Amino acid sequence: MQLDDLYRQVIMDHYQHPRNRGTLDESAISVDLRNPSCGDEIHLQLLVEGGVVKDVRFLGSGCSISMASASMMTEAIKGKPIEEAVELAHSFRAMMRGEDVDLEHMGELEALQGVSKFPARIKCATLAWQALERAASVPHGEHVEEETFGE
Ligand code: FES
Ligand code: FES
Repeated sequence: MQLDDLYRQVIMDHYQHPRNRGTLDESAISVDLRNPSCGDEIHLQLLVEGGVVKDVRFLGSGCSISMASASMMTEAIKGKPIEEAVELAHSFRAMMRGEDVDLEHMGELEALQGVSKFPARIKCATLAWQALERAASVPHGEHVEEETFGE
């Protein structure tokens, strides 16, 4: 099997069977982020306790890349210290800018690396990660609604 086919399978699996799809109660941090290029939105909720991501959920409608990226992101950060989750977001966004990143730390997220070659799709892949970065900067119980910034 070609590596590209494997990557495609990973992306389609997350798109068709999204992990951590749903909502948390109002005490969670909530971020709604919109991709201005297509209007798609993600609703991300985080529950951080003792500096650790205890729980995370997302809702949204969007293309396969945006939804797969969100699903993979939730799996990658659950149980991690919030600082590590934010570092991973920075690495993911660096990967989307085509920069060299340590793929060993990216795990399954490597499947999205190829998106960096398609500038129009980069915001699709980074939508959830930008929401995560935003969520890390606001207190619990707060609800933020914004548009994506940069890539
Ligand atoms: Fe066109 Fe995402 S904005 S594919
Ligand atoms: Fe809208 Fe991909 S086309 S997020």
